[in-house]
Amino acid sequence: MSAHNPTKRRISVPEIRAKKKVEPIVSLTAYHAHTAAIADQYVDFLLVGDSLGMVMHGFESTVPVPLDLMVTHGRAVVRGSKTALVVVDMPFGTYEESPQVAFRNAAHLMKETSCGAVKLEGGRRMAETIRYLVDRGIPVMAHIGLTPQSVHTLGGYKAQGRSKDQWDDIEEDARIVEEAGAFAVVLEAIAEPLAARITKALAIPTIGIGASAECDGQILVMEDMLGLSPRVPKFVKKFGKVGDAINAAISDYADEVRSRKFPAPEHTYSLKVANSGGGTKPSGAAPAKSRTTRRKKPKIVGC
Ligand code: KIV
Repeated sequence: MSAHNPTKRRISVPEIRAKKKVEPIVSLTAYHAHTAAIADQYVDFLLVGDSLGMVMHGFESTVPVPLDLMVTHGRAVVRGSKTALVVVDMPFGTYEESPQVAFRNAAHLMKETSCGAVKLEGGRRMAETIRYLVDRGIPVMAHIGLTPQSVHTLGGYKAQGRSKDQWDDIEEDARIVEEAGAFAVVLEAIAEPLAARITKALAIPTIGIGASAECDGQILVMEDMLGLSPRVPKFVKKFGKVGDAINAAISDYADEVRSRKFPAPEHTYSLKVANSGGGTKPSGAAPAKSRTTRRKKPKIVGC
């Protein structure tokens, strides 16, 4: 049972929507089961973002991410979590061509991962597609402002709406995705006064990433806020020093292996003490019932 969600079931799309003006929506990206299980206790939704291409797989941008990778990580996050809504990103090239292609790929994501919603990037240009998906039972989270899949068109990862002449265009995108049926919209790297204006104008929640505390909720890439990513954008606050902790642990491990300090006796299997009357049975790698049982509860024979 999560601290913020006393029910034992997953938060639904209408429940996320209903949080607007009631309480801030908390979300993080997640790509794998263990971290999803930890975050699940605290967040309202988990996004399997296509940023996993850069964070987990070393791509230079999100553009090369294939649909299969989203399925693999989406399944892991759904398996690892219990109560958060899981939203999976549609990667570049899987939805822009036509509403029909988008439906086929979004339905594939939902069937294969059991996620509760998909996210796609783009404002008015995606309105027809959002409407098509929503009318056919696929909840859609929209994403406007800095849309990383368009990095080559935008000419880099640049904050949006920092001059007033951009405001009407971006606000219009927000209104149009809402009209098209999106249940929430991510505002990425948008200047604070514009984020405030959009949040006020819309009936659906705005989820900010680099778009100020004026938004209805916040999302960050988990590895960024944990302090694991080597470089992070200006809008990231590092809530942890996980990179330093991993570095120290691996450095200690390497030292201890080289100095033969590890493994110590408590990490080592010895022979079982022979039963009275019975013969001695070699038991170093004890003949466990199953590999799974053995891995869950390693039998350490006393030393
Ligand atoms: O891919 C992603 O992680 C995202 C978030 C940054 C919103 O889209």
